[in-house]
Amino acid sequence: MNIGIDKIGFFTPHLYLDMKDLAQARNEDPNKYLIGIGQSKMAVIPPTQDVISMAANAADQILTAEDKEKIDMILFATESGVDNSKSGAVYLQRLLGFKNQVRVVEMKQACYAATAAIHFAHGHIAMNPDSKVLVIGADNARYGLKTKGEVTQGGGAAAMLISRNPRILSIQDDATFWAEDVMDFWRPLGHDEALVDGKYSTNVYLDFFKHVFDEYQAKTGFDISKFDALCFHLPYTKEGYKALKIAIEGADPTVAANLTREFENVRKYSNQIGNLYTGSLYLGFLSLLENANDLKAGMRIGLYSYGSGAQGEFYSGLLRPGFEKQIKHQAFQNVLDARQRLTVEEYEKVYNSRIKDEKTRMLDIESDPAKYVFAGVKDYQRQYLRK
Ligand code: COA
Repeated sequence: MNIGIDKIGFFTPHLYLDMKDLAQARNEDPNKYLIGIGQSKMAVIPPTQDVISMAANAADQILTAEDKEKIDMILFATESGVDNSKSGAVYLQRLLGFKNQVRVVEMKQACYAATAAIHFAHGHIAMNPDSKVLVIGADNARYGLKTKGEVTQGGGAAAMLISRNPRILSIQDDATFWAEDVMDFWRPLGHDEALVDGKYSTNVYLDFFKHVFDEYQAKTGFDISKFDALCFHLPYTKEGYKALKIAIEGADPTVAANLTREFENVRKYSNQIGNLYTGSLYLGFLSLLENANDLKAGMRIGLYSYGSGAQGEFYSGLLRPGFEKQIKHQAFQNVLDARQRLTVEEYEKVYNSRIKDEKTRMLDIESDPAKYVFAGVKDYQRQYLRK
């Protein structure tokens, strides 16, 4: 049975910071951020957006009433969840108007969990061919002002509808994975910002890529020439570029050149948004779909998922006949171009204004143009609104 991604939607808030402005404020050479890290802009998450509202805004763009009737499971992957008990998925049940006969659950393994969710959805649909599953990867990547990780912040949500006979990508049963208990990046309970050993994390990410890609080639008999594009988890786009270089080492020059060209399409949106944690790999896939001019049905796309702590996985998907009808060329670029640029001072103010562990405070939602917003807390209960 063909099972995979039938629809994909994405949301990031309306504010951004230009990396040249941040470099100037932090006394760094702009080229360190633009070239060395590979980021030109960074999404800034206003206090009126969190993983739930961003997920609602992403899912709302792709779901029809018929989809909602068929969806019997919502898998919400995040590592910046807003409650230690209640899942992000159950908020969506009401906000987006799903039926009550739906399973709702939140999943966590750093930036990896959305990939696990896709495979769990795959298994569920194999047993229940008529059902559809909504998979969300939503996060707010925060490292702290004036830290080394500051330049690799960002946020947003990817929403994917997983179904039988998908219209975009057919997921292949070829995954290889590797897990190891390491401390490269983590967020202790009570901490609002992640702790990271960035250089070590980059090395683990690349080591895990070698493990899973070597095993993938041994398992399937496919070498690099079988791929038409490779998508990577992109905490910052230079990291994916480093993995790409490993993948194409020793490859036929034409194959290497094609994959390098497609990687520029893969990283185009991430370069302007920053890290997304769970949604990052799938933003790269969307970016490829919307920006590449030469993709064809049947082409094989490789996907490398990585979640610190750590879990790596490599798998592939085949583009489905007619996939191009589901995609609007560069559509999301228009959304990114319409965002409002903040000064560093404004960004720092926004950064410090989020609600944290407060009993009651309502927010000014008028300044946020998004359809779904986080309006504040009343007696520790989070308030979400559809405007
Ligand atoms: N022009 C071009 N490149 C420059 C430069 C300049 N003027 N100045 C520095 N660079 C390059 C460096 O050579 C380096 O490249 P390399 O990685 O290919 O060696 C890169 O820019 C980064 O410089 P570096 O000095 O290593 O930066 P840093 O100490 O500030 O750390 C990170 C950068 C990415 C490690 C740090 O931002 C971080 O920890 N981020 C979080 C990463 C993360 O999220 N990991 C976990 C999720 S998987």
